[in-house]
Amino acid sequence: QLIPVILSGGAGTRLWPLSTEQTPKQFLPLAGEKSLLQQTALRARSISQATSPVIVASQDHERRILGELDAVGCPPSRLLLEPIGRNTAPALAMAALEGADENALLLVMPSDHVIRDVESFGEAVHRALPLAQDGWLVTFGITPDRPATGYGYIHMGEPLSGEICRVKRFVEKPEAGRAERMLADGGYVWNAGIFLLRSDRLIEELSVHAPALLGSVREALAAAHREGNRVIPDRAAFASVEAESIDYVVMERAARMAVVPVDVGWSDIGSWDALHEIEPQDDGGNALHGDVLALESHGCLIRTSGPRVAALGVSDLVIVATDDVVLVIPRERAQEVRRLVQLAGQAS
Ligand code: GDD
Ligand code: MG
Repeated sequence: QLIPVILSGGAGTRLWPLSTEQTPKQFLPLAGEKSLLQQTALRARSISQATSPVIVASQDHERRILGELDAVGCPPSRLLLEPIGRNTAPALAMAALEGADENALLLVMPSDHVIRDVESFGEAVHRALPLAQDGWLVTFGITPDRPATGYGYIHMGEPLSGEICRVKRFVEKPEAGRAERMLADGGYVWNAGIFLLRSDRLIEELSVHAPALLGSVREALAAAHREGNRVIPDRAAFASVEAESIDYVVMERAARMAVVPVDVGWSDIGSWDALHEIEPQDDGGNALHGDVLALESHGCLIRTSGPRVAALGVSDLVIVATDDVVLVIPRERAQEVRRLVQLAGQAS
């Protein structure tokens, strides 16, 4: 059994003002007409032998998620609903304990990514199946093109099968200097955040590296509210689970990890600039979306879900309008949008 587990709990404020706490990134139609969550569900369904997905998400988003998945004909097999976000380690501990039969293979999929070449992705998953069945924790590696600090870095070791290598070391979110050194040294790929692993192996690693966390998740599940295919862990018990990411807790420390290098048109759309790169552009290199007029402008990303936006003679800007906010920022400084999010939060 191959069970897709879709993680849909992140906030993603780097795409403010479009992404907000109420509408995180996965619910936005980016790089296509469908939301990233819908694209992820369709990607899961395209993998042969995969069951319908298990979704791990915030309880607050239940309706929205069901509506979106229904609209693309991909209803979940199970919904694990968090009363409060505790990051990805507890989310995946739940999926391993709840969402699967013993020894099922879980394909962990973040819901906030774009993968252009779905077919190659499916092939990579299938190439990795034998190793995962054998008990390896399989990660998917992206060729890095800059010393980004927001990703996990995987040092590739000796080949295990075809292009699949043993993971020599997993470094989650290195600081800038270390990222630069790893890029210069070569032999590193970025962790795509997608994992293929046996549920019992994940539980085993958690019991070694995070026994307290695993224990608290078990308690929260023992007292869970269950109804149909919905599971809501006990609020108080789940609130006391340590908020840790699977990357720090398991991937940096686990035994028997493998990496499949992939070239699948992956992007986690970490900024407006990254979105500009992957969206279709006009002759002037502008990515336009919504009611936008642009004259003699170049290299801009202009998007509106609110008023019409008209621009003339501007270059390399990000302009994003919603009903209540208009963001204007140079494309190359798109990362700094956080500073505005903080200010806007204080002001309102
Ligand atoms: N259910 C649930 N609950 N999902 C969550 C939670 C949570 O509390 N927190 C995050 N997620 C989901 C996000 O929605 C996203 O789909 C995925 O889990 C990854 O979480 P992020 O918060 O986006 O992680 P990251 O981007 O900082 O880092 C991860 O992804 C990188 C690639 O984009 C790591 O795996 C890195 O190593 C990796 O390079
Ligand atoms: Mg992310």
